[in-house]
Amino acid sequence: MKLPVYLYGHPVLRKISESLAEGADGLKELVAQMFEAMYESEGVGLAAPQIGKNIRLVVIDADPVAETFPECAGRKFTLINPEIEILDGDMVSRPEGCLSIPGISENVPRVEHIRLSWLDEDFKPHTEEMSGFLSRIVQHECDHLEGKVFTDRISGIRKQLIKGKLNAIAQGRVTPDYPFRVAPKAKRR
Ligand code: NI
Repeated sequence: MKLPVYLYGHPVLRKISESLAEGADGLKELVAQMFEAMYESEGVGLAAPQIGKNIRLVVIDADPVAETFPECAGRKFTLINPEIEILDGDMVSRPEGCLSIPGISENVPRVEHIRLSWLDEDFKPHTEEMSGFLSRIVQHECDHLEGKVFTDRISGIRKQLIKGKLNAIAQGRVTPDYPFRVAPKAKRR
């Protein structure tokens, strides 16, 4: 079964996700399904809230953008309970997209350097300093675990300009070419 991607406007994208405990049932299968859903939709990262689960789990395969961003070459991870430490406050803006916000790309300011600590799918701990686009992907995905999406970080003016498009997604007037799920009708504004 292919996992559908939950779209902007769905309440699951706005909740703070729960930490994952070792021995969680069906975790490896879920991770495999998330990678499959990510590849199917041609994304480089996918966070569990985007497939309707509020748990602190992210999959990333940044290799497809390695031609433009060499730091992404061969970088494939499963992040469980990831934690980001900001290493410098310099903000860099670059365009981002999100599988939960199809058809929209906006410049998003983010810090360039982070230190990431996480557990892999065997619950082994890792720590690594990251920069460039890899750091951006990680920050974007970890935002999802806090109930945030990239459009929360753009200017008020830009947000106003894309408001119509965001509403269209929230109301289900969108057809990405991968399996998706929109907000329940009763909860639409
Ligand atoms: Ni996203």
